[in-house]
Amino acid sequence: MTTAGCFISLEGIDGSGKSTQARLLAEHLRATGRQVVLTREPGGSPGAEEIRKLLLEGTTDRWSAHTEILLFTAARRDHMERTIEPALDAGKVVICDRFADSTRMYQGLRGDDLRALVDRLHELMIGREPDLTLLIDMVPETGLSRALSRNGGEERFETFGADLQQRMRQGFVDLATTFPERITMIDGNRSVADVATSITATVEAQLDG
Ligand code: ADP
Ligand code: TYD
Repeated sequence: MTTAGCFISLEGIDGSGKSTQARLLAEHLRATGRQVVLTREPGGSPGAEEIRKLLLEGTTDRWSAHTEILLFTAARRDHMERTIEPALDAGKVVICDRFADSTRMYQGLRGDDLRALVDRLHELMIGREPDLTLLIDMVPETGLSRALSRNGGEERFETFGADLQQRMRQGFVDLATTFPERITMIDGNRSVADVATSITATVEAQLDG
């Protein structure tokens, strides 16, 4: 690590419980005396939240996959500069609901050459990964029904449907196999409390290590 803090991301398909678990993890770490910044993507800084609106509202064909890669990366760059890096430099734990693995999956799986493009742009403009990524694995049907019952206007990606959710799930599992040092898989098909217990154990091992 080049900075004093610890950078943790949560990943998984829509409705897998990331936001719920990110909040519980932040509460747990704060209760143990750590300074925590809880943030999310797309968004997490004023500029990136503006870009979030452009990305998540409107019809599914509003942007091409290429344009989405640029917009998500632009939002991430602003989020890194304004929120994540200052917090890590100050020794805080940053908990981020989605990060670059989401772009690798949601945009990278939409065409043959796109994953390589995502990785190249990430290297050029972002240049760092989380210290730990918690991948909440979940049956797509459950995730989709949870996500659809919850959302208001931000449904551009969820309207892509169950087939895409299944490909995303497999893509995330493959990513965890490729980066076993960074990514820990968590079984999300359990109660909120049981998932939280697994996450807490994984994070404490990382923070103590
Ligand atoms: P995500 O951020 O991954 O889309 P959320 O944390 O917003 O997922 O959860 C989606 C919905 O499912 C919410 O209504 C939440 O209360 C519910 N939920 C989250 N985790 C569980 C769980 N383990 N069991 C049952 N419902 C859950
Ligand atoms: P989010 O609000 O986390 O949705 P959810 O809580 O349902 O998981 O993210 C909004 C959507 O943005 C989600 O469907 C995934 C998508 N997304 C991408 O397509 N690429 C990205 O790089 C990121 C960060 C999110």
